[in-house]
Amino acid sequence: MGTARSVVFKKVRRGSLFQLIFLGVVIGAASAAVALLVPWLPPSAGKERDRIDFVFWFTTTICLAIFAVVAAVIVYSVIKFRARPDDDSDGPPIHGHTGLEIGWTALPAALVTAIGIVSAVVLARNGDVPKDHLTVNVTAQQFAWTFKYPDEGNVTSSVLRLPLDKPVELEIKALDVIHSFWVPEFGQKQDAVPGLTTHLPITPTKLGTFPVICTELCGLGHALMRSEAIVMPPDKFAAWVKEAKKGISGGGAAAGKTVFDQNGCGSCHTFAPAAAKGTVGPSLDDLAGAAQKAGKPLEEFVKESIVDPNAYIAPGYAPNVMPQTFAQLPKARSSERSRSASTTASSLRRHVDGGT
Ligand code: CUA
Repeated sequence: MGTARSVVFKKVRRGSLFQLIFLGVVIGAASAAVALLVPWLPPSAGKERDRIDFVFWFTTTICLAIFAVVAAVIVYSVIKFRARPDDDSDGPPIHGHTGLEIGWTALPAALVTAIGIVSAVVLARNGDVPKDHLTVNVTAQQFAWTFKYPDEGNVTSSVLRLPLDKPVELEIKALDVIHSFWVPEFGQKQDAVPGLTTHLPITPTKLGTFPVICTELCGLGHALMRSEAIVMPPDKFAAWVKEAKKGISGGGAAAGKTVFDQNGCGSCHTFAPAAAKGTVGPSLDDLAGAAQKAGKPLEEFVKESIVDPNAYIAPGYAPNVMPQTFAQLPKARSSERSRSASTTASSLRRHVDGGT
């Protein structure tokens, strides 16, 4: 048995180390090309995503090296040690190789430990928010995102606006079912769970507009539950906050449009005066006709549709799609809440009447 084993290993050593290395380099280069040349992920736009990318590449490099070695040995063996048509003999009775076994146990253990340590460090740093940060309250509901800025006078927006290079902590809540907040360019995902507040730090490092995607199946409109994250220069962000603060206090149709925008109504409804093109719910461009069909006075119809959406369902639409969460909308006091419903309702009515 000892002689059979040494014969096998001598054979490998003699002619073939060069061929093995050659195979390993070719296979390694081909798989590295697949990893590097295919754009698997959109480019990073945040510090947290940069750290995650580091873990990705750390792990991928290890995997590529191991894959090259294993694949080279397999390809080599399949070609070199295949049974010839006239070969009816048994293979040499090899029991094992203690040295090899120790090697292929210890090396992966060390590599997996290294990946574990690097991941733990990145996870800890990505969960860490510096004291000087901007807080954004994120509200997820079927099927819209709302972003409120408690540090900026409770300005609300259906689009996430962030100042460049400023650490941000999202405090995420869900009003109905589980949703999940994800901006691919920022890297991390975070679930929005009813009854819980979850946290997600973001430090945007690139100006631009990036998609906000719901990545938890949450109902009929899940695929349409999208918004945008706009990273802007800090001075432009401050200017936007100032403008948004003025929005609601102005009153009239302008305030109604602001409330409509800020609460994400446009992600489900088409409404020309607000340039909204949503198609999840009925269009609001012929409210007079809709109120007539429902047999109700216009303003009462609009208000009821906001406050108690299941009271009347437009023909062809399903109940329970419009959020029945009016009472929980992120507004400070109940008087303020009913005021914004009236503001939106009367603004919608005025648009119908032809005024602005
Ligand atoms: Cu919300 Cu899917």
